[in-house]
Order: sequence, then structure tokens, then C-alpha cells
Amino acid sequence: MTIKGLNGAADAAAAAHKPAHFKLENLIRPNILSLEPYRCARDDYQSGILLDANENSLGHSLPPKSVIPHNPGTSNGATAVQSSEAEDPLSLNRYPDPGLFGIKDSLAELRGVPHDAFVFLGVGSDEVLDLVQRVCCRPGKDKILICPPTYGMYSVCAAVNDLEVVKVPLITKGGKFALDVDAVNKKLSEDPDIKITFICSPGNPTGTLIPPSDVRKVADNPDYKGLVVVDEAYIDFAEEEKRMGKRAADEVVSSVSLVHEYQNVMVTQTLSKAFGLAAIRLGIAFAQPALVQIMNNTKAPYNISSPTAHLASLALSPKGIEQMRANVQTLIRNRDSLISALQTLPGAGAIWGANEANFVLVQMLDLETRSKPDNEVAQMVYKRMAEEMGLVVRNRAKDLGCAGCLRITVGTEEENRRCIELMKGLLEGGK
Ligand SMILES: Cc1ncc(COP(=O)(O)O)c(C=O)c1O
Repeated sequence: MTIKGLNGAADAAAAAHKPAHFKLENLIRPNILSLEPYRCARDDYQSGILLDANENSLGHSLPPKSVIPHNPGTSNGATAVQSSEAEDPLSLNRYPDPGLFGIKDSLAELRGVPHDAFVFLGVGSDEVLDLVQRVCCRPGKDKILICPPTYGMYSVCAAVNDLEVVKVPLITKGGKFALDVDAVNKKLSEDPDIKITFICSPGNPTGTLIPPSDVRKVADNPDYKGLVVVDEAYIDFAEEEKRMGKRAADEVVSSVSLVHEYQNVMVTQTLSKAFGLAAIRLGIAFAQPALVQIMNNTKAPYNISSPTAHLASLALSPKGIEQMRANVQTLIRNRDSLISALQTLPGAGAIWGANEANFVLVQMLDLETRSKPDNEVAQMVYKRMAEEMGLVVRNRAKDLGCAGCLRITVGTEEENRRCIELMKGLLEGGK
């Protein structure tokens, strides 16, 4: 069966053929596979006197002199006709550009995929994580596989989509958090109802990169007919470590490299972390064009708003990327200082995971002997800092393999200093 809307010639040239045992048409739900791409008004025309989409011809109703950012390079062609550039540079009365090829091209170049057909855009990566479950998994019948401790939304989306969640824990011994490739593959070989395997790299809350070589071993499992989704929300922190000389310059940290070869690998990323744009909600999936087309056929027509697209295109400009990299390097340095301070903090124990993201996972020890991780101490520190001192971290003590652990997002130097000072007071003062 052909996938509707897929540009056959262009995509055949870039098509991946691995693994031989995978057939996308057998994975995608039949009702999704038969969807025609929805053609919305702005797919057809973007300029002229636009009386086609039941927009408001008088313009927006924001109070006069409201400040709206302006970037003539990204506003769509409808602007000039219906509203004055000065008053509404983003054409807020118009539905947004549904294609967003400029943004997709920038992302394709940044991450090294051949062209925009390899890029899907969602409302944060959270939308992508939900959508991929909707296209592959039949509610009430199919399953997903996750590797705890991991990001919570995979299971939340599974619950919404009425899917069972199969758990194969990471190898947690000593806080190393490695993928248990053999156990994952065993489970996948045994259970044909598992349609998606979610691998978080670097993991949340583990901060640990799963090497693409491990992802490859799962994608290559001949018994597994499903998809491997690698969630790389924090990948730029690992990428930047290469530029800083903290890891080998030629180490392949991102699994996007696998998308060239594998039809059954999707990699999700986001502008919420390294780019510091959590508020605009822009998530990304990199995959083979056939899968991207299926996601496009399924999503809501105008899922990415014009303000989001405008800000994303600025962030993905050469200057924006330069700024992102500089900020990530600062956060990495702040992370190193935070780790050093935690290592000498009486009452704080081991730092778990590999610290390859913008947070640190640290154990709180029992107050008497200071020899073992203690969930009550973690809860006490967490709660008192948040409620009495106005500094909020995350308590992850109940996550598998994370006994006694708090997850601290790397802050500014001043914020980190304050965090250490407050923790010191609480750990010295006791309950
Ligand atoms: C591993 C992971 N994936 C995805 C997300 C969600 O990202 P977004 O803001 O793009 O929805 C988060 C947010 O904390 C995360 O930790």
C-alpha cells in the first residue's frame, strides 16, 4: 500500500532499507495508513485577498500598541494585504504556515539528515511521543516498552491511548544506568504486541547517554517488527561536550545518524532544553520520509503556531545556534561546579548517572550514619527547600534505582550556590 502524500521519487532516493525484517505498512494502524493528507486553506494559497479560511478580516483584537516581535523574513505572504506590517507583523489573524519548510530545512542541516522530508514538527516532543503511539498502536490491544527509570510521559500517553506498558529496567547497579540490550531484545522477541520501544538518551532522570550502537542492536532484532523511538531531549549537552574536549570529537552520541539507515528508528528532540525555549512548545522527530508523512497525515492541520514558528526560526539561525552552544557550555561548566560542591557536601551521597544533561541526580543519606540513601531525608530536603526556602528541585527517590535521589536542574552560578547552601543547612540541621 502506498502512503498518501509521500513524494515517491525524492523519497525513494533517500529511503533506508534496513532492517530487512521491518515493513512500515505492517506496523501502522490500517485506519491511519489510509489517511489522505488534509489540505488546509493555507496549503493552497498564502497571498492575495484571502477570503478562504474564515479568518477575521479586520485583524487581531489585541490592545493597540501591543508589542509583537517582528521578523519580515519569516512572516507569511498574507501579511501585506490584510493588515499593516507595523501593527501585525506575524499576521496573527491568519492561520499559520502549515509547511514550515524553512524551519525543517534548518533542522535537517543542523542534525545532518538529507532534507526536510525527514523532519516532523510537533507541539513539544510530548505531542510527538503521543502521536507516534497513536499511529502505531491499537488501543486496548498493543503495548509499548520502556526502560525505567525514565521519562514519565511515555506511560502517560500509553494510558491515554489504552496501551499496556512493558517495563525492562535499565541496568541500575551502582547508578550506571545502562540499557539492558539482551533483556530488551528477549522481551521484544517474546511479545509481538509491543509496537514501540522508547529509549531516553541522555536519560531523564539518569542523565546517561545510551550509545547509538545499543539502539542499533534493538533495531536489528529480527523478531521485532515495531519501532525504536530514541528521545534525545537533552542531546545538545552531550554534543557540546565534544566541542569542549570533554569527550572524543568523533564520538557519535546522537542516534539521528541511524535514521539514514533504519526505517524503524525515530529520534525525537526539542527546543525546550538546550535552546531554552520550553514556552514555545516546539518538538521534532527525525525519521524516514514515509513515517514522517504518516505523522503529518495524522496531526492537527495547524499544530505549530506563527509565534512559535517565528521564534523557532530565530533560534535556528546561525546566531541563534551560536548562542545556544555558548549557553550549553556555560551550563556544562555550572554543572561541573555543582557536582564538585555536592561531592563535598556532608550528608549528600553518590551522584548517580553520567551527568550528560542539564541536571544532576544526587543521593541524600540517612542523617545518623550517613552511610545509606534515605528517601525520608530526600523528601524532607525537597519539601522544606520548596515550601520554606523557595528553591524547588525534584524528588526522584521513588524511581527505580534512584533511592534517596533528588534531581537538581543546573541553574545559574548564584542559583547553584544557594541550592548548596540550603541543602547544607538542612543536612546539618537534621529533621
Ligand atoms: C526526556 C524528555 N523528553 C521529552 C520532554 C518534553 O519535552 P517538550 O518540552 O519538547 O515536550 C522532557 C521534558 O522534561 C524530557 O525530560
